[in-house]
Amino acid sequence: MNRNKIASLLASINPIDFVCISGWVRTRRDAKTFSFMEINDGSCRSNIQVIADDTLKNYEAVKKLSTGSAVTVFGVLRESPGKGQRWEIEASAIEIHGLAPDSFPLQKKRHSDEFLREICHLRPRTNKYGAVFRIRSALSSAVHQFFKDHGFFYIHTPILTGSDCEGAGQLFRVTSMDMENLPKISGETDYQFDFFKKPAFLTVSGQLEAEMLALALGDVYTFGPTFRAENSNTSRHMAEFWMVEPEMAFCDLDQNMAHAESFIRYLVNRALTHCADDLELFSAYVDKTLLTTLNKIASSNFIRLTYTEAIDILKNSNKIFQYDIDWGSDLQTEHERYLCEDHFNGPLIIYNYPASIKPFYMRVNDDEKTVGAMDVIVPRIGEIIGGSRREDRFDVLSERMAEAGLKQDDYWWYLESRRYGSVPHSGYGLGFDRLIMLITGITNIRDVIPFPRTPGNIEF
Ligand code: 4AD
Ligand code: MG
Repeated sequence: MNRNKIASLLASINPIDFVCISGWVRTRRDAKTFSFMEINDGSCRSNIQVIADDTLKNYEAVKKLSTGSAVTVFGVLRESPGKGQRWEIEASAIEIHGLAPDSFPLQKKRHSDEFLREICHLRPRTNKYGAVFRIRSALSSAVHQFFKDHGFFYIHTPILTGSDCEGAGQLFRVTSMDMENLPKISGETDYQFDFFKKPAFLTVSGQLEAEMLALALGDVYTFGPTFRAENSNTSRHMAEFWMVEPEMAFCDLDQNMAHAESFIRYLVNRALTHCADDLELFSAYVDKTLLTTLNKIASSNFIRLTYTEAIDILKNSNKIFQYDIDWGSDLQTEHERYLCEDHFNGPLIIYNYPASIKPFYMRVNDDEKTVGAMDVIVPRIGEIIGGSRREDRFDVLSERMAEAGLKQDDYWWYLESRRYGSVPHSGYGLGFDRLIMLITGITNIRDVIPFPRTPGNIEF
């Protein structure tokens, strides 16, 4: 038979003669001739109340059900005479799947995020984490919907790669060789014996390959996991994170910025309209200003300023920062947040960064000092999107690659795309996990993905 979801039962207008739900016991208490249970099936934040009376065949076993046990309940959906809920299920039968002994760690009290991180396998069963992962799912769908509505093609870029897209050397190496007994040639590892016959890595970005598809299909996007072995133990970085990367042919930096802005607004709007119930939890318990912040982002025009203007504002701010600011040094999160939260009080886009701090693929501006880069900065997070117009001129690109110390042989195919029908094109990467931080108000990135991977952490 078809199982009902608690989310749809609670939205019911009329009583229903026969329902069946499966889920986990959140609480249970006994009255004289019956037992009350609150069941949650993960379909929504709310539990449903179940009344099990002593005429049930297995009533003695039902009376032993404790928090965390798994059951299927058959019965009638009726108006609840009690306070606090409109509907309840009067059970005609209860099937018991798995009991949970008292050692079940999620007893009815609030647990710290730090504690819950140690039990990532169980934390989705809490109200808060259930809500996070439902929102993550809703926003994944929203990503696809947005691009579908705008005529983009969804492409799959490789996870295994031979190139370092960002040129930052933060690659995880992948090998099928025996690490304890590496084949050597003149003292160096002999990759002829490795799977791909050359060094291979996990990708840091699908951009370079996405560009090849954009130069054929026009507007494309990829949405997948990316990997960076940066040893920064911050609340905004993970070794494995999800990125949405649109790439658009015949698109300049202005159009790229406009696109990124409308994408963020769309996603925030979708969360407000499609995840209202779950968002309520975060605005009540995680960040009281959450809905104000989200509504503001959903309706505001993002301020745009150049990197040079940003540096001037920071220098004139008289604020003491941990990292010095000088033209030519990268902006740190503290600088981005000052500009966004204190100075402008709203989302912003900083563009035209110094060429020296940005990857080889960004288009060099006429001043020859800056590149057509852009970062989108949002409150509480700092950088949520990084993107650029791409260098489409063969000669300039090969020069930039040489400066960056990249071997042209490794990128011959990328260069070749600039030889045959090169066009202005642009794109960006949205950090999907940071988006979920923005939407939920959660301040540690480890708490927006089910199983976070950070330095020293590969449990689960
Ligand atoms: O600015 P990034 O490094 O840009 C790129 O990778 C480009 N190739 C994207 C493109 O143009 N197609 O990364 C893009 C975004 C950042 O703004 C940030 O939100 C997120 O990815 N990000 C991380 N999120 C979590 N953990 C990390 N270690 C991250 N590194 C970047
Ligand atoms: Mg960046």
